[in-house]
Amino acid sequence: MRHALFKPVLEEIKKIVEETPDTRSFYFDKDGWAGHTPGQFAELWVPGVGEIPISIASPSKSDELVFTVKKVGTVTSALFEKKVGDTIGLRGPFGNGFPLQEFGEKNLVFVGGGIGLPPLMSVILEVLGKNKISLFYGARTPADIVYKQLLNELKDKIDIYLTVDVGDGSWGGEVGVVTNLLRPERVHPYNSVALMCGPGIMMYYTVKRLLELGFREENIYLSLEHHMKCAVGKCGHCRIGPYYVCIDGPVFPYSKLREVEERFAGTVF
Ligand SMILES: Cc1cc2nc3c(=O)[nH]c(=O)nc-3n(C[C@H](O)[C@H](O)[C@H](O)COP(=O)(O)OP(=O)(O)OC[C@H]3O[C@@H](n4cnc5c(N)ncnc54)[C@H](O)[C@@H]3O)c2cc1C
Ligand code: FES
Repeated sequence: MRHALFKPVLEEIKKIVEETPDTRSFYFDKDGWAGHTPGQFAELWVPGVGEIPISIASPSKSDELVFTVKKVGTVTSALFEKKVGDTIGLRGPFGNGFPLQEFGEKNLVFVGGGIGLPPLMSVILEVLGKNKISLFYGARTPADIVYKQLLNELKDKIDIYLTVDVGDGSWGGEVGVVTNLLRPERVHPYNSVALMCGPGIMMYYTVKRLLELGFREENIYLSLEHHMKCAVGKCGHCRIGPYYVCIDGPVFPYSKLREVEERFAGTVF
């Protein structure tokens, strides 16, 4: 795979994994890919249909490039028509990713909602064995939990807390919003950094909760999933205040986003 920022390179789909009834992971070989930082994204182009930004779900050290996609509309539906051996176009990697060097050996607290888990999983797999990791993840129903098998494999290595909005007969775990999982006995701000990705409303309340628990604004990182077109800072579609989410983000410390809301009356969530 060649590195491409402006023109998509056609790549063959090597494997497809059904994660949930409406979410699939698409696997590609990584030969020639320039490498990425967890938290960066790529543009996936379905010829004749359109292009969409999707987070890179695999860690930088993996031999595979993985994208986990939820079917929500035109392009994602066309992508779901593709089979192993078909090709799609890829551009990237784009954006800044999470500043892992700055995190050092701090405790990492991940908070994910729904299809917000893929960019966080890229980080988790990158730092596994190095940092103490806690993952708080909320999905709509038990069937909507992505990476079930992987979460099962990880449960002896990291602390995992799951919740669903609506349970079913088989669900013995917690029911409610993901912020309910964030309790003082499980989350401590000392020497910790929080990383989150999910729906705007979930991130809004998660930030509030983390601040209540004593986290400093600069130790809370959000990955934003704003609407985009060019992904290279040219079209202005993703602009919030002085920032373009595609090049200055998608990862921002909350301290920067609060400033956007206050000084530039920008809508962040
Ligand atoms: C940096 C970044 C990373 C992303 N990572 C992932 C990922 O790993 N997996 C994944 O499944 N999705 C991810 N998304 C969201 C994904 O880009 C959209 O779901 C996709 O563009 C929808 O395209 P569509 O043509 O199928 O839907 P459309 O037909 O364009 O729209 C269908 C519905 O989806 C909504 N929608 C469209 N774009 C977005 C968006 N950016 N965010 C939220 N809702 C949207 C529309 O408002 C509409 O309600 C990411 C978005 C960004 C900006
Ligand atoms: S998507 Fe065009 S400027 Fe960000």
